[in-house]
Amino acid sequence: MLAKALWADVETHSEELTGIRRDIHKHPELGFEEVRTQAKVADWLSRFEYTFRPSAGTGLVADLNPGHPGPTIALRADLDALPMPERTNLPYRSVHDGRAHKCGHDGHTAIMMGVAAVLAGHRERIPGNVRLLFQPAEEGVRGGGAKVMVEEGVLEGVAEAYGLHNWPGFAKGSVHVRPGPVMAQVHTFHVTVKGRGGHASQPQVCRDPIVAGAHLVTALQTVVSRGLGYDGGGVVSVCHFDAGHTHNVIPSQARLTGTIRTFAEADTQRVLERFREVLDGTGAMFGVTVDLDLEVGYPVLNNATDCAMAVARAATAAGVREVTERGLPLGASEDFAYFAQVVPGAYFFLGAGIAGEDTPGCHHPDFDFDDDLIGVGMRVFLGVVADRLAGARPARNAA
Ligand code: NI
Repeated sequence: MLAKALWADVETHSEELTGIRRDIHKHPELGFEEVRTQAKVADWLSRFEYTFRPSAGTGLVADLNPGHPGPTIALRADLDALPMPERTNLPYRSVHDGRAHKCGHDGHTAIMMGVAAVLAGHRERIPGNVRLLFQPAEEGVRGGGAKVMVEEGVLEGVAEAYGLHNWPGFAKGSVHVRPGPVMAQVHTFHVTVKGRGGHASQPQVCRDPIVAGAHLVTALQTVVSRGLGYDGGGVVSVCHFDAGHTHNVIPSQARLTGTIRTFAEADTQRVLERFREVLDGTGAMFGVTVDLDLEVGYPVLNNATDCAMAVARAATAAGVREVTERGLPLGASEDFAYFAQVVPGAYFFLGAGIAGEDTPGCHHPDFDFDDDLIGVGMRVFLGVVADRLAGARPARNAA
């Protein structure tokens, strides 16, 4: 059985992969600047005789069996770090101030390098092609790398695509996956309430943007609770409210910033419609103008049913203790969504939370990727490859 043969080699490079993971951690690079990381991956791919090319500037696309008539399965890892400090005292802590691998993409990269090595050892036995996508710029600091890679055609000839993320919010030893939405569509809103400022003792000649803004904060909470039915889901959070500067002046404007998260297109449209109605209505009620500047983030990440089931099967067969849908969808967003819009795919989570401990989550300054997950991630990815290429159906090319 192919999966068992692949799994038998998972530990072969484990010490080296842990070393590579920590080296990448020590030298974090932001989105579209992953030059050193890219070179490291390229060296590794050369060692295992891959055909590869750069993509999206600092990413790489590697084919195990280019031109193979069987189906092509794509696996994706993200390469970038975050513009935030490292607060650990690890021997391999970031050497760059204000840059750190606080989402575990160093680990995701090591997992994919491990997968590359194992697959190369069985190249002739693989009844198809495996395309490894080393993607820059997932964090969206300067736009998402996945979209650029899709535009560059990395999914041409690909039947299905898979990706993963470590997640300390889920217990270590678990894999979380489900069909349908697993991560949110995000919109960031910047609302400006423009009134008329004046002396604090004379509100009657002013149009107070603070009172209007305060009503907005409360009214916006009804967008989801009264705008969507019990089968819908979403979040509207006002995260920043800025107005005024002293005790005796009514200011002329207030600014509110926050996030909207939704999990289905119909809900997104409904929420945005209600959001605008609340802004306009509140503006009319207080005689102020309300302007909306809306930034559109990554789309909903939807798992195809077949692909999600393949991940669950592979994880179970690989010996993962708990394979569950619990906790999904997450309200975070992920640009793997662009791949999953073009071909069927599945995105899954490797639990990283240590029982009885408050394991720092992704994007926390104390976070570090758990090296035990390198082997787990490799086993699931390799199991998926074996599962999906079993019987080697003819290649499907989803446009
Ligand atoms: Ni991440």
